[in-house]
Amino acid sequence: MSKTIESTLSLAADTKLVKEHLATINMPAHMDAAKIADYKARIKRLLKEKDAVLVAHYYTDALIQELAEESGGFISDSLEMARFGRDAKESTLVVAGVRFMGETASILSPNKTVLMPTTEATCSLDLACPVDEFSAFCDAHPDREVVVYANTSAAVKARADWVVTSSIAVDVVEHLAAQGKKIIWAPDKHLGGYIQKKTGADMLLWDGACIVHEEFKAQGLLDLKAVHPEAAILAHPESPDSVLAIADVVGSTTQIINAAVNMPNESFIVATDKGIFYKLQQLAPNKQFLVAPTAGNDATCRSCAHCPWMAMNSLENLYESLKQGSNQVSVDRALAEKAMRPLQRMLDFSASNKLKVAGKA
Ligand code: 13P
Ligand code: SF4
Repeated sequence: MSKTIESTLSLAADTKLVKEHLATINMPAHMDAAKIADYKARIKRLLKEKDAVLVAHYYTDALIQELAEESGGFISDSLEMARFGRDAKESTLVVAGVRFMGETASILSPNKTVLMPTTEATCSLDLACPVDEFSAFCDAHPDREVVVYANTSAAVKARADWVVTSSIAVDVVEHLAAQGKKIIWAPDKHLGGYIQKKTGADMLLWDGACIVHEEFKAQGLLDLKAVHPEAAILAHPESPDSVLAIADVVGSTTQIINAAVNMPNESFIVATDKGIFYKLQQLAPNKQFLVAPTAGNDATCRSCAHCPWMAMNSLENLYESLKQGSNQVSVDRALAEKAMRPLQRMLDFSASNKLKVAGKA
């Protein structure tokens, strides 16, 4: 076994070490407990004063997730964040996540103010799909239904027939394939390949990838599994095919959490951003969660299972944005109206799917 794998395994295999490691991420070196409590109290006051609610993704800092819970806000995956923001009674949404999440909130709630701790937080999938090139690709295949992942710009969404998140992508494509539709899928090639395998749909895949999930390697997971044979492997479908092939469960962030809570296993190897450990440990405190090994350590580790853009959200910039009303996300009205159609299609599809599952439709 190589030194790199050994050291990755020893870190991943020791949950105490992982917890300590996460704690260093959660508590920035320049903030002690008193300062954190002070920031949280000030943000909670501002949220009330400004009729605002905090909506956070599972990959954000644990302090932000805690604050969302303590202040009556919401933590979830990208689909439920969109739905919660749309239905929230507050006039301001503070979206802690990456830019496409703020844009989606703004498109779905044109009459609400949408703030973000930072608007610099992007996503490698969004970056990989510039609208001009993508439009030209769609124009070259006019016989295909255009299905794009939520991790895209408002302009790319506006060019699409459907927007989907990972929690609903397979169901939507299955539905389209059943109608004999051929599909253009963008931007995540791994998620696209996974959907294609599951549904057998005729899909043309755009060549984008998530820099966080692409780092997970099957061999690293198998090595860790050899140390923990009882552990189930949970993987987000943005991971490479070889990782998905050995996973016990493949699913969105919420589906991963549900699996961890409901499966009988007492330990899990988790191939997604380690921000999710906050919820996993909260909902299954007696289970053991291991970070899936990434491609390398130190200088060769590009993300170390943590999205660098999600990590840009902090208590400080959240506070500043709320206090100043800065980092407001707004999407051009005409563009937003176009992007709204495929987003609404997804929300309607998901609502009718839920009714079907509940036996009410
Ligand atoms: P979810 O839709 O599962 O929350 O995923 C969003 C994301 O960016 C995953 O990397
Ligand atoms: Fe994008 Fe990957 Fe970060 Fe998710 S984890 S926001 S897909 S770069």
